[in-house]
Amino acid sequence: MQLEDSYQRKFYYLRLSITDVCNFKCQYCLPDGYKPKGKNSGFLQLEEIRRVIAAFAHCGTTKVRITGGEPSLRKDFSDVIAVAAEQPGIEKVATTTNGYRLAKQAAVWREAGLTHINVSVDSLDSRMFHQITGENKFTEVMAGIDAAFDAGFPQIKVNAVLMKDLNSNELPAFLSWIKSRPIQLRFIELMQTGDMDDFFSRYHQSGISIRNYLIANGWLMKAREANDGPAEVYTHPEYQGEIGLIMPYKKDFCQTCNRLRVSALGKLHMCLFGDYGVELRDLLQEDSQRDQLITAIQTQLADKKVSHFLDDGYTGMTPNLAYIGG
Ligand code: GTP
Ligand code: 5AD
Ligand code: SF4
Repeated sequence: MQLEDSYQRKFYYLRLSITDVCNFKCQYCLPDGYKPKGKNSGFLQLEEIRRVIAAFAHCGTTKVRITGGEPSLRKDFSDVIAVAAEQPGIEKVATTTNGYRLAKQAAVWREAGLTHINVSVDSLDSRMFHQITGENKFTEVMAGIDAAFDAGFPQIKVNAVLMKDLNSNELPAFLSWIKSRPIQLRFIELMQTGDMDDFFSRYHQSGISIRNYLIANGWLMKAREANDGPAEVYTHPEYQGEIGLIMPYKKDFCQTCNRLRVSALGKLHMCLFGDYGVELRDLLQEDSQRDQLITAIQTQLADKKVSHFLDDGYTGMTPNLAYIGG
């Protein structure tokens, strides 16, 4: 069985958020932080997570990315990894993290079955890192990346949001940093989430300016392969690392969309943009509900839009990425 929409796109990749909570306060995401509301914040429990992943795996999903908020803040994070890794058919278990726990936990997560890791690093200057993320944890996050290599992750992806008048002057420093490291460094263009219009207009920097800089400096665009993610990838013969450019407002990514999302509260999202989600939680209470769950997913998929661009060429509402898991 394979999840397919009415535009013949196949969905083999699940992005599953397991918490909205984060311990960083990135200015473009959660400037005021996000604290749990009470002890039981109502996020999916391990058994519910297992049922979601099992249903997707049964329908041909081979990759699960565990997202948040900051997924590693969950005490059962290693169990979530293990539950994902043990579902038949799941070949890749990935996570996107702010790196805060990486130095201590990289080996444990690897042991539990984690195969891929993406870490956010918005600056290589510890003061700017502090200013952007609200936390003075630059040294810890860098140590985390080293620990992840030591634990045997073959390639690590690093996400950086380059913003005008903040960290955009660090582009050359970022490039030097990956000269002899097998890192895919992805520059993500700032996205305008529902609650940050002013910040967006003040700091948004187009990915095109980064692309122009790369091309002028001898970087070459790699041919796009099937199942490539949102990044346009550039390589350079003198660099071990590579660059990914993620330009969320570019229109060509939707044609090869291969991912579905489930939020930490159990809502199914067809798209990162303009999508309020559909409740799946009632169907996550018993193993015997699996077929109903699959039918619910397929029903939504039949309605997935061809792209997130509306008639006026602009996108629908983007929820805060800490809520939808990026
Ligand atoms: P892999 O290809 O699995 O490494 O993942 P990724 O690059 O999608 O993962 P990551 O969690 O590092 O996300 C990075 C950013 O990619 C997100 O914050 C989004 O800006 C962008 N992105 C992820 N999924 C989509 C999508 O469906 N549409 C668009 N336009 N952008 C996306
Ligand atoms: N614009 C661009 N990237 C964002 N992220 C979170 N919010 C935004 C935004 N508004 C990034 C994080 C993380 C990834 C999952 O999403 O930096 O690397
Ligand atoms: Fe936390 Fe990631 Fe949002 Fe930063 S971008 S506040 S690390 S969820």
